[in-house]
Amino acid sequence: MSAPNKSFDPVEVAVLKEEAVNEARDGALAAIEQAANLAELKEVRNAHAGDRSPLSLANREIGALPPAAKAEAGKRVGQARGQIRAALEAKETELQIAEQEAKLAAERVDVTVPVDRKRLGARHPLSVIAEQLADVFVAMGFEVAEGPEVEAEWFNFDALNLGPDHPARTMQDTFFVDSPDSGVVLRTHTSPVQIRALLNRELPVYVVCPGRVFRTDELDATHTPVFHQIEGLAVDKGITMADLKGTLDHFAAAIFGEGLVTRLRPSYFPFTEPSAEVDLQCFACRGESVDSPDNPCRTCSSEGWIEWGGCGMVNPRVLEACGVDSSEYSGFAFGMGLERTLMFRYGITDMRDMVEGDMRFATHYGMEL
Ligand code: PHE
Repeated sequence: MSAPNKSFDPVEVAVLKEEAVNEARDGALAAIEQAANLAELKEVRNAHAGDRSPLSLANREIGALPPAAKAEAGKRVGQARGQIRAALEAKETELQIAEQEAKLAAERVDVTVPVDRKRLGARHPLSVIAEQLADVFVAMGFEVAEGPEVEAEWFNFDALNLGPDHPARTMQDTFFVDSPDSGVVLRTHTSPVQIRALLNRELPVYVVCPGRVFRTDELDATHTPVFHQIEGLAVDKGITMADLKGTLDHFAAAIFGEGLVTRLRPSYFPFTEPSAEVDLQCFACRGESVDSPDNPCRTCSSEGWIEWGGCGMVNPRVLEACGVDSSEYSGFAFGMGLERTLMFRYGITDMRDMVEGDMRFATHYGMEL
């Protein structure tokens, strides 16, 4: 700044006059008040408190005043600038808080808003029940065995004592791959896995084989050309029909309820001798509807029993076909349909529901914990 100018009349320095200072201050305070956000406030700060602001420029004039006038003008300008600084600071704090709050409000997550849930899928009830049934046998020491669905006729028929003239070998029941003389079929039952197990495993053999099978049936409420069976095979020294019966009773009770038993009815299968049909004691009435017309049972038609599958003692010819000495070893085998078992278990009346792939069916019956 230049040296004091003695001839300079402070009264004539317009920017230092009280009204001018007040006006600059009031203008600044009003502008600060009106700043709507921090960016605007920054502009206001530059305009009213920056180096080129009216009061900064006025401040520079003070140095040139005579000492008497210096104090008064200094005080006036200093107070005005102090007020502006305080107002800027207060406004800055206020705007910072407001902006922080606006940001929090914008980022707020309403945890009560319903979400667009993705429906979980479910395993097919047939896969679930196949595993549950197999587990019953695994707990008794059986192993789970598998075999191919496209099978050689020898495994599916011949080795099982189903000679070439057996009715089950005609085109009616069997899907042939290529021509009927190709020797390759879609397996019509899970029994070929018995043969594979006996050929591939060390004796004794205890296996359970759940799997898909094929027959040339039309799809209706009780038939489907592709269905599932579970087969059991035990070959050991001294196996008797009592072992078969005890195993089936345990199986029935494990799946359908404590105390439920099975009944064997004489039947015929080429691969078992003797052979029997396995009936399941009716799990709905437990036989109480029999001879009681007032209490009919829809599940078993008041018969007390439900047909479940087939079974028998492994035919020695089957053992011999697999190289097992039938004078030393004996065995039992049984097989039942998984679809039927699932229908009993849940009261499903139409088999087509199982193949149509409706998610509601799978989630309803397949979500067992
Ligand atoms: N394989 C027979 C069927 O499909 C069922 C069965 C298996 C019968 C084992 C006896 C022994 O009908």
